[in-house]
Amino acid sequence: MLLLKTIPSVLLLVYCSAVPTPQLTSDEDAHLTVPELITKYGYPVEVHHVTTTDGYILTLHRIPHGKNTDKVLNKVVFLMHGLLCSSADWILTGPDHALGYRLADEGYDVWMGNARGNHQSRNHTRLNPDTDAEFWQFSWHEIGAIDVPAMIDHVLEVTGKESLYHVGHSQGTTSFYVMGSMRPEYNSKIKAHFSLAPVGYMNHMTSPLMHIMAFWSGPLDLLFKLIGVNEFLPTNEFLAMIGDTFCSDGDITQFLCSNALFAICGFSPKQMNASMFPVLTGHTPAGASTRQLVHYAQEINSGAFRQFDFGLKNLEIYGSFTPPSYDLKLITAPIYLFYSHNDWMAGEQDVIRLCNGLGDSCKGKFLVSDNAFNHLDYLYGISAPQIVYDRLISLMARH
Ligand SMILES: *[C@@H]1O[C@H](CO)[C@@H](O)[C@H](O)[C@H]1NC(C)=O
Ligand SMILES: *[C@@H]1O[C@H](CO)[C@@H](O)[C@H](O)[C@H]1NC(C)=O
Repeated sequence: MLLLKTIPSVLLLVYCSAVPTPQLTSDEDAHLTVPELITKYGYPVEVHHVTTTDGYILTLHRIPHGKNTDKVLNKVVFLMHGLLCSSADWILTGPDHALGYRLADEGYDVWMGNARGNHQSRNHTRLNPDTDAEFWQFSWHEIGAIDVPAMIDHVLEVTGKESLYHVGHSQGTTSFYVMGSMRPEYNSKIKAHFSLAPVGYMNHMTSPLMHIMAFWSGPLDLLFKLIGVNEFLPTNEFLAMIGDTFCSDGDITQFLCSNALFAICGFSPKQMNASMFPVLTGHTPAGASTRQLVHYAQEINSGAFRQFDFGLKNLEIYGSFTPPSYDLKLITAPIYLFYSHNDWMAGEQDVIRLCNGLGDSCKGKFLVSDNAFNHLDYLYGISAPQIVYDRLISLMARH
């Protein structure tokens, strides 16, 4: 509990104030798979599998066109989800709202990736995720350096295109920057990249749960007991501790704080649509490796955007005592950043530093007009279509 005292408590007042009681509807969408959901709402869907060079079997979901087949742009967009999320997050809020459907209706051929280790990509040619610890020895470094390039190659091969648009949310932006710097040959395959809640540097991130991990001074094995050694599986005790400490009043805050995704990222009551809760919590958190979170925690401590810190093994792995930084100068694809004042994970100063580091590639950065807009509102926020997607779609049309 001592640890918790190091965290700024001002935030809690902002987020955990008066909130309406959730209207928990028995929503069948909570139990449908991604293809079932897309079919239910009248859109075409395809499921694709890609095997990476290191054996992970990844699932991609495709909405090849919208309902109006006259409106076909013959352009491909690839959407990459964030930490603890999946392809589901681009469609969960339904056709009137979700970006996956909106882009399909605009005439795009929409592909939604899934990173190794989430519920959709929890498979391997050789390793068993339930029994082989080796399966979980990856962070978002491997997702960016291996998974995203493999999925992009597949999409370009199937569609016969040479380039595509890329939209990332949260870790989906991190993995894009990793790809652009580690596999710079992929920059020419990107017409334009759009970062929703960009996460590169993390010095100014305010998520209490991430701070607990970053400032954890106790034995690591105790932390791992609480959140999982290999696969990120926070115990109910750990989430209850977060809930009790940070979200004590109101049924809805307790309810959302008991979900690892919302506990990490926070939420703004004004942007939350309570009738969406069953479907959102039915599909998230969608799974991750513990190392993905530890890698972010390392960034909070180091202030650098660099590869995973293996401690004493760095010398053997990297040939240096500290891990190499990602070279932002190698990222040459046009990039647009969407950020907001109230984002627990993507602090404003960090986004500005990132844009400066990207130099000429940072074509624009847009501060979202709603000051209460939070990290997950880019996906689920009631006004996301008006204050984010409309601009994104018009920018995309320019490239
Ligand atoms: C994992 O991939 C194998 C093919 O290598 C497939 O036979 C199996 O059904 C997959 N398992 C799951 C749970 O998707
Ligand atoms: C909230 O979600 C419900 C169910 O999807 C939808 O009918 C309603 O329009 C949404 N409310 C707002 C304010 O977006």
